[in-house]
Amino acid sequence: MAVRRLHSEQPATFEFTPDNLAWANETIAKFPEGKQASAVISLLWRAQEQHAGWLPEPAIRYVGDMLGMPYIRVYEIATFYTMFQLAPVGVVAHFQICGTTPCMLRGSEDLIAVCKSRISHEPHQLSADGKFSWEEVECLGVCANAPMVQVWKDTYEDLTPALFEQVINQFAADTPPTPGSQIGRKASSPEGGLTSLTDPALYSGGNKN
Ligand code: FES
Repeated sequence: MAVRRLHSEQPATFEFTPDNLAWANETIAKFPEGKQASAVISLLWRAQEQHAGWLPEPAIRYVGDMLGMPYIRVYEIATFYTMFQLAPVGVVAHFQICGTTPCMLRGSEDLIAVCKSRISHEPHQLSADGKFSWEEVECLGVCANAPMVQVWKDTYEDLTPALFEQVINQFAADTPPTPGSQIGRKASSPEGGLTSLTDPALYSGGNKN
C-alpha cells in the first residue's frame, strides 16, 4: 500500500453545502453530549463525497472544528483508512483492488495488470481522460468472493480480468454494473447453487428438530 500523504495541491477553504451542513448537525446530534467526535468518519465521508471524491486538507480542519477535535486526530483517521482519498480521483470511478492473500491467490495481480493497461501505470494517477484512477488496498472483507474491487460503497466480486474489463466498460458507458458477484452468485453461496441444506422442508417452519 502506498504511503498516504495529503496532496501537494489543496483548495484554500472547505465548507459544507447548506444541505450537508444540516445533515452533519443532525448526525452530530445523534451522539451523547461529549461524544460528538464519534461522528468524525461520517462527516469526513460526506466531505469527500462533496469534494469530487477526495478529501482536501481544509476539510479535515473543518470537520475537526465542527467536532471540537484536534486537527491531528482527524488527520490520523483520514490518513489511516483507505476509504478516504487524499488526492484527486477519477470523476467516474476510483477502483480499489484488494491485494490481500485470498484475493491475491485468486488473481488480484491480474486485475492490477488491467488497471495498469486501462487506467494508468501507477496507482493514484488519473487516466488520460480523467475518468478513472486505481489503487491496491488491503482486505475489504469480501474474501469469500475473491478477487474483488471496490468503487466507493459498492463491491464487484468473483472477477476475472475479462469480467473486470466489462465492469470498467460499464462505468465508462455510464451504466455501472450491479454490485456483488459478477458471475451470478448470491452473496457467497456456492457457484451453481446450494450444495447442502437443500431440503425445502428445512425452511417450511414444520421441522422444529
Ligand atoms: S482478501 Fe480480498 S476481500 Fe479479503
